[in-house]
Order: sequence, then structure tokens, then C-alpha cells
Amino acid sequence: MQVLITEQQIHDRVRELGQQISEDYAGRSLTVVGVLTGSLVLLADLIRAISLPLRVSFVSASSYGGTRTTAGELSTDRSLLADLSGRDVLLIDDIFDTGRTISRLLSELQATQQPASLKTAVLLWKTERTEVPFQPDYVGFQIPDHFVVGYGLDYNEQYRQLPYIGIPDPEDLARAM
Ligand code: IMP
Ligand code: MG
Repeated sequence: MQVLITEQQIHDRVRELGQQISEDYAGRSLTVVGVLTGSLVLLADLIRAISLPLRVSFVSASSYGGTRTTAGELSTDRSLLADLSGRDVLLIDDIFDTGRTISRLLSELQATQQPASLKTAVLLWKTERTEVPFQPDYVGFQIPDHFVVGYGLDYNEQYRQLPYIGIPDPEDLARAM
């Protein structure tokens, strides 16, 4: 495993994002919606860096039939989602890759709920891969087009618990089959 972003770098950056979000939404309360499962670790750390009245909710998104680098058919599940009408909503995911997952979730939430506002926060943004006409509002780190794991990101559901962002070696991938 090659370390791309260290635990300390993530810790410092997540604190900065939390402070920025707290300033931007000052005087309001926030509903944080985590995209399962990859947002788990970022969400847990980020909400502890936000000093606002705050609620937590979840949606689920997964793609089927994709490969390691290409997304398959996207399916979403909103059964865990709280009522977002009139709320300031921050959608949180681990990574903005092509942007299709977040794009799809944003349009679904806009169409089915009436949030007062809807923004997005991600730990990582693979800027070279963006295929949608918008950008995430809060970004931890812009990264080049590497396949990465850790801090919520998985390969075959493995490596989510790594405290850093790593680029797996072929042996790491083989071990996760
Ligand atoms: P998008 O829809 O192309 O933006 O892809 C979003 C989803 O693909 C993320 O929520 C991740 O689950 C997955 N993904 C994209 N890039 C990576 C990566 O480098 N490592 C692990 N998962 C990734
Ligand atoms: Mg994911």
C-alpha cells in the first residue's frame, strides 16, 4: 500500500472543512446526509468538527456491474432518509469521481424533498474524471486519477478502516478478492 494522504493530513483538513462549514451556515442548523457506505468515516469525523445544531441522516447508493474503474448501473435507496423539507442539507460522500452518483442523488433529493438548500461535501475529488457540469461545494483534497482505498473507500468492501488514503499494490488487491 502506498500512502497518498496521511492520517494527520486528513485530520487537519477535515477540521478546516468543519470550521468552514460552521462559518458558512452560522446561525442556521444543518442536516448532514451521508451516502452509505463510503461516507461513514468522513461523516463521523466531520460532524465532530462542526459547531452547529446538526441532524444526521443517510441514503444508500451502489453501482452494479461496474469494474474497478467504471461505474455500472446506479441504484439508490432513500428508505433511511429523514424528511428534508425546509432543511439546509449537506450531502456527504467519500469521493467525487465521475460525479454521477452525487448528481443522481442531488436531483432525486431536489425532486422528492423540498430542502431549503442542498450542497455537497467530499473528502476526495478526482478532477480529471469529472463528467457532470458542476463541482462539489466542499472538497478535502483534489487527487489525480488513482484508484484509492481507506478512510471509508473500499476495494471489494475491504480497506475501509485504513486511517489514511492509500494506493493499493497488486498484492493488496489480490488479498481482497
Ligand atoms: P462517481 O459516481 O463516478 O462519482 O463514483 C462515486 C463512487 O465510486 C464513490 O462513491 C465510490 O464508491 C466509487 N469510487 C470512485 N473512485 C473510487 C476509488 O478510487 N476507490 C474506491 N471507490 C471509488
Ligand atoms: Mg461509495
